[in-house]
Amino acid sequence: MPRMKVTGVGMYVPDRVVTNNDLSKLMDTTDEWIVMRTGIKERRYVPDGMTGAEMAARATDIALKEAGIEKKQIEAIISATLSPDHTFPGMAPFIQDKLDLGGCAVMDIRNQCTGFLYSMAVADAWIRTGLFKTVLVTGSEIHSTALEFETRGRDVTVIFGDGAGVFICQATDDENTGVIATDLHGEGKYAKALWVEAEGQVFHPRLTHKMLWEGRAFPRMKGQLVFTHAIRRLPETMNACCAKAGVKIEDVDFWVFHQANLRINEFACQALSIPPNKTLNNIDKYGNTTAATLPIVTYEAQKKGLIKRGMLVGFATFGAGFTWGTMLMRW
Ligand SMILES: CC(C)(COP(=O)(O)OP(=O)(O)OC[C@H]1O[C@@H](n2cnc3c(N)ncnc32)[C@H](O)[C@@H]1OP(=O)(O)O)[C@@H](O)C(=O)NCCC(=O)NCCS
Repeated sequence: MPRMKVTGVGMYVPDRVVTNNDLSKLMDTTDEWIVMRTGIKERRYVPDGMTGAEMAARATDIALKEAGIEKKQIEAIISATLSPDHTFPGMAPFIQDKLDLGGCAVMDIRNQCTGFLYSMAVADAWIRTGLFKTVLVTGSEIHSTALEFETRGRDVTVIFGDGAGVFICQATDDENTGVIATDLHGEGKYAKALWVEAEGQVFHPRLTHKMLWEGRAFPRMKGQLVFTHAIRRLPETMNACCAKAGVKIEDVDFWVFHQANLRINEFACQALSIPPNKTLNNIDKYGNTTAATLPIVTYEAQKKGLIKRGMLVGFATFGAGFTWGTMLMRW
């Protein structure tokens, strides 16, 4: 049975840097508060006219070069995003059009911070069954146009940033490389702990001026609840995935963590005795870019020589839903 291997990684972030001090001019917050609670120093915001599809396409150009393949070899595009350029038909068709890949399969996955991990799991399943040999998985997010730049929304606004990252996933017959194990979970009873309530198809009409005025169209979060679940669920799923793979936590050479809050990752590493040299945190530069985060961290870790071919690499993430999971692959 073929296995899924990542042959190319790409990322794109907009040039516009927004610092904590920039935000403190718009709302009651400080650089000190944000750095201490989250580890974030700055994030990127798209300029007018930049789309999520365009960012994904730019990241794909980089990944194709690394994979050394023609873009026409891509047979399917899976787009993970919570911020599609338009409400429907989803983001993947727009990315496909940007890449001029008409005819290939396209699909969106709406799983927020675990969207990229779930998308990799789908790509892995498609490749194992022989349906496709080359799948492009993208994570592309524009948060900056949907945040509340006032004190009321400060807890959420300071943590999110824009960006995109992609993996080129390909079939391999080499048993010493590719995905080894995957562990995925969700718990819908916490769906409203981190969500955007409106517009909502359950409302008649689905969006009103009153809803906008009340701030129900902005993301809302029970921060402490998210935090306490994240620090419990991450070690749990990492252990479970290692057990499925028949390896120990210490056998994993490098961990790619979602970047929601530096403290969450520090807790997880402490709980599992993972040394700092086996991870890379770049939340200080980009904030939380949700579905784009895993490939962005992977890209930078590869560039720094922290992830090398042959290494056992783990991907671990927790996010809205709640959803969480881990994937282990021989890089
Ligand atoms: C958001 C988060 C940083 C807030 O940190 P916290 O220590 O839990 O802070 P609290 O929510 O308890 O708020 C503490 C105080 O800071 C204030 N505060 C919230 N955001 C603030 C900001 N950006 N700047 C200044 N003060 C802020 C609160 O209003 C509160 O004030 P009060 O004590 O007067 O009521 C933290 O809960 C977190 O990171 N949670 C997980 C978020 C996450 O991972 N989200 C994405 C999941 S994928």
